[in-house]
Amino acid sequence: MTKATQRHDKSSIARFYDSMGPVYARMRQYGHNRDGSTKTCLVDALTPFEDDIILDIGTGPGMYAIDIATAAPSCRVIGIDISETFIDIAKESALSAKINNVEFALGNIESLGFADNHFSKIICAGVISVVHQRKQAINELARVLRPGGTLAVREPCRSTGAFSRFVFGLPAESRIR
Ligand SMILES: C[S@@+](CC[C@H](N)C(=O)[O-])C[C@H]1O[C@@H](n2cnc3c(N)ncnc32)[C@H](O)[C@@H]1O
Repeated sequence: MTKATQRHDKSSIARFYDSMGPVYARMRQYGHNRDGSTKTCLVDALTPFEDDIILDIGTGPGMYAIDIATAAPSCRVIGIDISETFIDIAKESALSAKINNVEFALGNIESLGFADNHFSKIICAGVISVVHQRKQAINELARVLRPGGTLAVREPCRSTGAFSRFVFGLPAESRIR
C-alpha cells in the first residue's frame, strides 16, 4: 500500500465510526453471533476456500475477516477500514484469537492501495451504503478483484428499528438509502 493511500482520512464518516467504535463493536459482535443464516450465506458465497487472498473491505471490528481466516487457514485475509479505532479493535481480536493469517490496516474503499487484480475474493458488508463516492468505491472493488473472482456484498434494508435510527445519524451525504 502506498503512503498516499494509507493516509488517515479523517472524513466525517471516519470520525463518526471512530467515536462509536467500542460501542459498535460490542453491539455488532452480539448481532454477528446471532446472525445465523445471513452471515453463513455471505461467507458461503466465498467458498470453496483455496489459497485465496481475501479482502474484507470496511472490516469494522473485523468479525468477518476473523471468521474467514479461521475457516480458511490456507488463505490470507486483509481487513481494511477507514476508522483507526476499528483497526485497533480488529487487531486486538485477531491477537486474542491467535489467528495469524489475517492482517488489518487503514484504507479507503474509494482509493485502495492495492495493485489491479490483487484479490481473488472480496467481502463488503454494510459499507457501500455509507461511503461518499459509491461509484468510485465499486470501480475500486472491480479493479482490485481478479477476473473470475468473487465479490460478496451485504447491505442493510431500511428499517425503523433503533439501530437504523442511530445509523441515520450518519453525516447526511452517507445516509443509507
Ligand atoms: C456498518 S459498518 C460494517 C462493518 C463490518 N463490515 C461489519 O459487517 O461488521 C461500516 C464500516 O465501513 C467503514 N467505512 C466507511 N467508509 C469507508 C471508506 N470510505 N473506506 C473504508 N471503510 C469505510 C466504517 O468505518 C465501518 O467500519
